[in-house]
Amino acid sequence: MTELSTKYLGLDLRSPLVASAGPLTGNPESLLRLEEAGAAAVVLPSLFEEQITHEFLDLHSLLEATAESFPEAATYFSELDDYNTGPRAYLDFLEAAKDTLSIPVIASLNGSSDGGWVRYGRSMQEAGADAIELNIYFLATDPDVGPADIEARYLDVVSAVRQAVSVPLAVKVGPYFSAMANMARRLVDTGADGLVLFNRFYQPDFDVEALEVVPRLVLSTSEELRLPLRWIAILYGRVRASLAATTGVHSGQDVAKLLLAGADVTMMTSALLRNGPQHIANVEEELLAWMAGLECSSVGELRGSMSQLAVPNPEAFERANYMQMLTTFTSAFFDDTDRGAVDRN
Ligand SMILES: Cc1cc2nc3c(=O)[nH]c(=O)nc-3n(C[C@H](O)[C@H](O)[C@H](O)COP(=O)(O)O)c2cc1C
Repeated sequence: MTELSTKYLGLDLRSPLVASAGPLTGNPESLLRLEEAGAAAVVLPSLFEEQITHEFLDLHSLLEATAESFPEAATYFSELDDYNTGPRAYLDFLEAAKDTLSIPVIASLNGSSDGGWVRYGRSMQEAGADAIELNIYFLATDPDVGPADIEARYLDVVSAVRQAVSVPLAVKVGPYFSAMANMARRLVDTGADGLVLFNRFYQPDFDVEALEVVPRLVLSTSEELRLPLRWIAILYGRVRASLAATTGVHSGQDVAKLLLAGADVTMMTSALLRNGPQHIANVEEELLAWMAGLECSSVGELRGSMSQLAVPNPEAFERANYMQMLTTFTSAFFDDTDRGAVDRN
């Protein structure tokens, strides 16, 4: 009997297959289908800082305007403080998900500054969230602001949410730090129980007919897996936190690679959007078949066995891999003479 169970953020999960934040986890019907297909946990879509602060500001200006004409209304409006559709609806959805599902439900808070919005982490906890995933997405576009300030900003947000909640906290970040390993360690030292690697940055596109900058969402492919794969392999055994992989997980083989690298769980969004919730069951079947082929009986046996600390050639994760790849690349368009010329130069 193959044992797929794993631990993530201290939660006992039936397998390492988690549905990450996305449209399918924001719908009651598909949440149930994900659970039926074998999802070990779900991460709900994010509640965004902007949703919270925007509504807070709206309420505030309404309150001010009303208070001028009807002072007695001020008390009434302040009681309504957070009774506004965005956050309230989110918490209601979270409560309903907790009532219907028996797998852990992770709520997601998404922002980039340590304002009052972080207190919604506490509200999520009170609504029953088994853990909080904090997604920090911030693009450092100001040339006057250097990496130390940016990193401090990340840590301030983590610290603020950590203080607001006592349930486990996972932090989801992008890969674009100049010292990723050091940043990972500091995120953990500041209170992250887990790291979710990596946020996928959606690049804006240009519409050359309308001459407009437009958002364009493209679902991932397995090719994109290699960025989290590399960093999970590097971080395994070096940070004291759960490691979750997101971006490019589509098949049982993708999950296998990430477990070998050292992931505790692997998360899927694009693959589920493309193939439906039932795809979780296919991925599990592929993973089981692969483990049977290796005569491997548990996920624990695999985890980290190809991490940078475990492999005989750790340099394969660093510059040596890059140099070897560039210098040995050949193309069907080269004939032997051309290749000789490239090799000699
Ligand atoms: C349509 C869509 C909506 C998403 N919404 C969220 C979200 O609300 N919060 C979040 O942290 N990530 C969100 N994500 C990112 C996914 O959780 C995931 O990290 C990313 O898509 C990479 O994984 P994948 O390759 O499996 O798609 C969203 C992704 C998609 C495609």
